[in-house]
Amino acid sequence: MHRPVLVREVLSFWLARPDGAYVDMTFGGGGHSKALLELPGFAGTVIGIDRDRMPEGAALQSPRFSFYRGNFAEMPDRLALAGVARPSGILFDFGLSSEQLDDPSRGFSFQLEGPLDMRFDRGQELTAEKILNEYSEKALADVFFRYGEEPKAKSLARFLVKARQKKRITATGELRLLLVAFWRGPNPRRFLARIFQALRIEVNQELENIRRGLEASLPLLEPGGRLVAISYHSLEDRLVKDFFKRESKDCVCPPGLPECLCGHRASLKILTAKPVLASAKEKEENPRAGSAKLRAAQKL
Ligand SMILES: C[S@@+](CC[C@H](N)C(=O)[O-])C[C@H]1O[C@@H](n2cnc3c(N)ncnc32)[C@H](O)[C@@H]1O
Repeated sequence: MHRPVLVREVLSFWLARPDGAYVDMTFGGGGHSKALLELPGFAGTVIGIDRDRMPEGAALQSPRFSFYRGNFAEMPDRLALAGVARPSGILFDFGLSSEQLDDPSRGFSFQLEGPLDMRFDRGQELTAEKILNEYSEKALADVFFRYGEEPKAKSLARFLVKARQKKRITATGELRLLLVAFWRGPNPRRFLARIFQALRIEVNQELENIRRGLEASLPLLEPGGRLVAISYHSLEDRLVKDFFKRESKDCVCPPGLPECLCGHRASLKILTAKPVLASAKEKEENPRAGSAKLRAAQKL
């Protein structure tokens, strides 16, 4: 079962007013949506959206809740279906849920045996297997470098291209064995996690989707509405931080121009000068909380 992170903190930033419409753009196991619906005095509605199917048992039995399948950029369309024009709060809790990670058939975990799938949306064509076996050596190296921040990305890509010439790489266990054979250090766990993360980000185009999701949120939110984002690694957090910074400034011209040429106007007020982290107790109880960083902003 997925344990939502930073629940108290999410509620304190997400809730702009008790009777608004709230979008949970990464519904997952529904932990944050459920907490909001159960909050004493909450009289609004919650629209849960996810690229993946809703896990069994996650459905929330409330007339004030509805669920839609969709990608971040499809938020305006899904909200139109839900009859919501101006949400009061939008929550993003990036990455993947425990249900997804712990299901061997999804191929997300290097610790479980399964197919190299890693798709959030099981209708899409691109899988981790296709990337590993069909991307050029250069494209593979780019994935490992950009999304896994792997310093040996080029030699790893060369190694895997040689391996796939002998046999197509189709299972998590095969990839794990190859990675362990490549690895020269003491404990390969972090390395394995980085490479699996890189493939997952590429399969799901996660960073591009985050960019689009943040952009899509801004015009939708009502004035005073809240945007809340929880990141789990620096690539995600940087996108949120840079977006908040840019959208909280009146002018985004390159420095040194005598006058503003961009005409950009601030539309957000940052509510978290520094990211909010989980308490030591929560980190101890829920390992997913260890790397979680929450940032929040308010629409002007
Ligand atoms: C960390 S989980 C969310 C957990 C949820 N907050 C809870 O309390 O159960 C992230 C979820 O976001 C979904 N997701 C990831 N990228 C997405 C995207 N671009 N559009 C929609 N959903 C996405 C994943 O399928 C996953 O279910």
